[in-house]
Amino acid sequence: MNYRHAFHAGNFADVFKHVVLLGLLDALRAKPAAFCYVDTHAGRGRYDLAGAQAQRTGEYRDGVARVLAAPDLPAALADYAQRIRAFGVDAAGTLQHYPGSPLLARCCLREQDRAILCELQPEEAAALRASVRGDARIAVHERDGYAALKALLPPAQKRGLVLIDPPFEAQGAEFDAIRHALASALARWPNAIHAVWYPIKLRETVAPFQRWLANLDGHADALVSELLLHEDNSPVRLNGCGMAIINPPWQFDRALAQWLPALARVLTLDSAARWRVDWCKR
Ligand SMILES: C[S@@+](CC[C@H](N)C(=O)[O-])C[C@H]1O[C@@H](n2cnc3c(N)ncnc32)[C@H](O)[C@@H]1O
Repeated sequence: MNYRHAFHAGNFADVFKHVVLLGLLDALRAKPAAFCYVDTHAGRGRYDLAGAQAQRTGEYRDGVARVLAAPDLPAALADYAQRIRAFGVDAAGTLQHYPGSPLLARCCLREQDRAILCELQPEEAAALRASVRGDARIAVHERDGYAALKALLPPAQKRGLVLIDPPFEAQGAEFDAIRHALASALARWPNAIHAVWYPIKLRETVAPFQRWLANLDGHADALVSELLLHEDNSPVRLNGCGMAIINPPWQFDRALAQWLPALARVLTLDSAARWRVDWCKR
């Protein structure tokens, strides 16, 4: 397990994933009943953008930094930018820290809501624990996030969101693990929103997962949203990424289509970035 998210924190894929995440959590907050947020691959929670790892790749400069510099953002992106500024911009206006999914989710928890955060890598789990210490709404588990779904679902709250955001060190094996874990999570907590982030390098690596989603028995169609900065034809480069959402909130497809064009414009590199929002149909 070599992956360290600090090299990638705040990159275009994080921006896409975290704006979607905030939209899903906003939809859960629209009703007063408590919800539970389950993060299977939580990371360390807080990333130092001035640190050696983030500086080595500089990926955040073509991600979150572009969004913060962009004028006239649609509401969902403006809300994301405001949360990032509140979390990580210092008095001089420099972006110093970036919040991972657990800390963004924490901003959205109300008194009655709960979060379960899983992280397997011991140093990352220790940092995560420190970043949420004292918050009785949040439980941190240093364990395999896939196995945790079997052990910990369903939580006491009837409503909620499972985010599966693995490192994808071996793409095919990760999709297999996701399929197994999702099948058992859906059996245990069928009404919750289940969201899976995935990288797009070669299109043919992603296609079997989407076919599997299209044939999920007993569930409404899954929603798939993608952002592509390059053609999906290189096995080595992160050309884009996607989020598959089972049981999405009402009209979430429309919500995505409202801000994705602006995000694609802001993040475009050499050729125009593309986006899509589609239902996975049989
Ligand atoms: C892509 S990063 C997570 C980023 C985080 N979700 C965010 O958006 O800020 C993936 C994390 O999963 C951890 N990890 C790898 N395998 C795991 C497993 N089987 N169970 C739980 N965590 C795992 C890695 O150490 C890494 O911190």
